[in-house]
Amino acid sequence: MPEIACINGKFMPLEQATVPVEDRGYQFADAVYEVVRTYRGRLFALDEHLARLFRSLDAIQIQHPYTVDQLKSLIGEAIQRAGFAETMVYIQISRGVAKRHRGVPAGCEPMFVMTVRAVPDSRPLRERGATVITVPDNRWSRCDIKSVALLANVLAYQAAKHAGATDAIFIADDGTINEATAANVFIIRNGELLTPPEGPKILSGITRGKILEAARAAGLPAAERRVTKAELIGADEAFLCSTTAEVVPIRSVDGQKIGTGPLAARIYDQFIRMFAS
Ligand code: PDD
Repeated sequence: MPEIACINGKFMPLEQATVPVEDRGYQFADAVYEVVRTYRGRLFALDEHLARLFRSLDAIQIQHPYTVDQLKSLIGEAIQRAGFAETMVYIQISRGVAKRHRGVPAGCEPMFVMTVRAVPDSRPLRERGATVITVPDNRWSRCDIKSVALLANVLAYQAAKHAGATDAIFIADDGTINEATAANVFIIRNGELLTPPEGPKILSGITRGKILEAARAAGLPAAERRVTKAELIGADEAFLCSTTAEVVPIRSVDGQKIGTGPLAARIYDQFIRMFAS
């Protein structure tokens, strides 16, 4: 199956896709992105993903290169052309190409890039569970914007790999948890789900929102509040969630084992029943 790309509306094989070296996304991380996926060939929570993409663009004042309907039709065409059983679509929009200077020249046109691949198989990690380390959150203070400036996430993930772990969880200065390097975090205590509230410290994950709905539909209480690292380590269960990873139980935090029980699996089943079948 061909992996394909689309640049400003033009489709091509992925390996032929290039952007100019003076794209501001490349030189300044002056760009935002989204990752959407299909379940049974249908796009999961597309409206929510596109609404977040537009919020990210507006937050950093990049013009919208396309309307929602135009984007939906480009994404639909990309999925058709690629022909995968399940598709993952990466969309990146930068402020555009300009002579390198932090100032934005008038008339800078946004650069739209989309890459299309098969959805990676999340099952092995979901079944194995994740081991995580904790790291101080040294990111900027607008983590609600889905910016491509992910250096702190890259380094935290590298630190996890060096420690033999699956991922890292960012800890705020007050000792509460924010999120993992590319996923939100939930804990379960006494049958209740807890996850950090929306705000500038985390990306408001689309999966996170759907998990909250699924948990409530399954009759499990769920609250959005700050969660301490001690609560994470002492949790009955905990899990990571994202569009591509779905729901991944956490087995240990900084080498300390935490409980793995039935509720994460029950919530995942409910999530799949409600949104993916
Ligand atoms: N990342 N937090 C961060 C920092 C993320 O990068 C992501 C997702 C999430 C979960 O968001 P969602 O449920 O909307 O996918 C939370 C994508 C998948 C990525 O970077 O590949």
